[in-house]
Amino acid sequence: MDPATQHKVAVVTGAASGIGLAVARRLARDGAHVAVLDLNADAAETAAAKIRADGGTATAAQADVSDRESVDRAYAEVRARFGPLAILVHSAGIEGFDRFSTITTERWNRVVAVNLTGTFHCCQAAVEDMIEAGWGRIVTISSSSAQSGQPFMTHYVASKAGVIGLTKALALELGPSGITVNTIPPGFIDTPMTRRSEERGLLGGSVDHHASLTPVRRAGLPEDIAAACAFLVSEEAGYVTGQVFGVNGGRNT
Ligand SMILES: NC(=O)c1ccc[n+]([C@@H]2O[C@H](COP(=O)([O-])OP(=O)(O)OC[C@H]3O[C@@H](n4cnc5c(N)ncnc54)[C@H](O)[C@@H]3O)[C@@H](O)[C@H]2O)c1
Repeated sequence: MDPATQHKVAVVTGAASGIGLAVARRLARDGAHVAVLDLNADAAETAAAKIRADGGTATAAQADVSDRESVDRAYAEVRARFGPLAILVHSAGIEGFDRFSTITTERWNRVVAVNLTGTFHCCQAAVEDMIEAGWGRIVTISSSSAQSGQPFMTHYVASKAGVIGLTKALALELGPSGITVNTIPPGFIDTPMTRRSEERGLLGGSVDHHASLTPVRRAGLPEDIAAACAFLVSEEAGYVTGQVFGVNGGRNT
């Protein structure tokens, strides 16, 4: 258990599934009081209940991260339950696979609203507590596709490249307040999102095929991202900020 994480209030968005779920479990295991925030209220409640059954402290919170009012409402519930926010891991996101010429403005706007504007909402609504405390840890989840580019994903890649830029700029602004801000761009993690894309034939091969092409010869696990998050939110990571912290089995170097 990390003493710095003990009893700290951590909001994990997108925490009902995949990477966010693994992060929520890990931070709870490290002693944080975790808010499992997700669009899917039932799944968030199930995840929080499982964390509690495993001996952790967790509560569920429903919000659409693209809707500032709903984020503010959810955060208010978390504060009333656990107190001021100290840690934010923002994993909520949606995929986008479309040929560039077919992307409607509506589709473009939705991907950007969830992935980029959602990051803005969730960070902005959290920082006041952290500034007040003179301590905070923010980890955004971007994507290795924003480092390498990816065909048929221009809306998604643009939104995630925006997350990297937001993270770097925010780190510089919040450094003097004792708050670190880093981003993890995951590369090929075996989650429900990845399996949905595989089922729809959008990956250009199976998960196993891609794993065989990955330098470490496996797909990433949500727990791989959770382990990196556990470090980035720890006390000893206080000199790590503004970084793009790749976790990708060597697929991007
Ligand atoms: N899986 C990968 O290989 C991979 C690679 C790069 C980046 N990522 C990013 O990692 C993050 C997590 O992905 P995952 O693979 O765990 O996906 P996932 O689909 O398994 O989980 C995403 C979660 O976010 C929630 N969510 C979606 N829209 C939301 C909204 N508007 N408000 C609140 N919650 C919302 C979903 O309900 C779901 O529980 C995403 O931002 C994704 O873009 C994943």
